[in-house]
Amino acid sequence: MGERTIAVSFPVAATLALVLMVYLQGVGGATFTIQNQCSFTVWAAGIPVGGGQALAQGQTWTVEVPAGTSAGRFWGRTGCSFDASGQGSCTTGNCGGVLNCTGAGQPPATLAEYTLNGSNNLDTYDISLVDGFNLPLSITPSNSSCPTVDCSSNVTANCPTQLQVAEGCNSACTALNTPQYCCTGDYLNNCPATSYSEYFKGQCPQAYSYAKDDNTSTFTCPSGANYNIAFCT
Ligand SMILES: *[C@@H]1O[C@H](CO)[C@@H](O)[C@H](O)[C@H]1NC(C)=O
Ligand SMILES: *[C@@H]1O[C@H](CO)[C@@H](O)[C@H](O)[C@H]1NC(C)=O
Ligand SMILES: *[C@@H]1O[C@H](CO)[C@@H](O)[C@H](O)[C@H]1NC(C)=O
Ligand SMILES: *[C@@H]1O[C@H](CO)[C@@H](O)[C@H](O)[C@H]1NC(C)=O
Ligand SMILES: *[C@@H]1O[C@H](CO)[C@@H](O)[C@H](O)[C@H]1NC(C)=O
Repeated sequence: MGERTIAVSFPVAATLALVLMVYLQGVGGATFTIQNQCSFTVWAAGIPVGGGQALAQGQTWTVEVPAGTSAGRFWGRTGCSFDASGQGSCTTGNCGGVLNCTGAGQPPATLAEYTLNGSNNLDTYDISLVDGFNLPLSITPSNSSCPTVDCSSNVTANCPTQLQVAEGCNSACTALNTPQYCCTGDYLNNCPATSYSEYFKGQCPQAYSYAKDDNTSTFTCPSGANYNIAFCT
């Protein structure tokens, strides 16, 4: 009786484990490895998958992202202080005062954005400065035929005066909040670059410098790749 129970339950358990693995990882899911190459601690964050994790210099954080995840993002937070229950705040990128983010971070924050297996079975990814800049960042796909995207300049160091904040550089939309800079209202469908967005583009040519900067800022890779995101590259 006991032997038969074991003989039946082992394959059942193994099958369930496999089903669970496929369900969790998903066909077309991806592993994101977040690496802190800064000389200081960065509190990494990810939504809708990831949450948050403190990363000392050199540390990495691995996040399994399910297939079909869209509008995902990772970013780094600086100047954080959290208590044992994960409550606190950060100088940049703060997400409602919790270590384990479930919502977007407060600008300024350099964003690594992605959608897995979207149209044409392609992953899309980009670096965005639409919410400003707080840390240099790069995205490197495991498929070496796909482009690495890099914003390695320290945009904070030369930030225009009107956009300067502690430990970062705000976007013109965040700082000045006009339709022209935010591409809203009369500028919704026709929103040319401005001297502010051109500053960001000059610093990081591959990154979104403002909301309508799609032409030079989106990248794709066939579904199935994994991604490495590094802070301070
Ligand atoms: C991407 O999704 C399609 C269904 O939309 C699926 O057939 C395909 O296997 C997925 N790609 C990968 C690499 O899993
Ligand atoms: C973070 O929040 C997610 C839900 O959003 C939860 O699944 C996960 O367990 C939390 N992680 C920690 C370390 O609390
Ligand atoms: C890597 O990307 C190239 C270029 O898009 C593509 O042709 C190739 O099939 C991809 N390799 C894998 C293993 O997906
Ligand atoms: C960027 O420049 C600012 C201002 O000069 C400096 O405080 C900060 O440490 C620099 N960040 C990095 C990642 O080098
Ligand atoms: C982006 O490219 C499209 C077509 O390729 C073009 O019509 C549009 O004017 C470009 N937008 C900008 C802001 O350069």
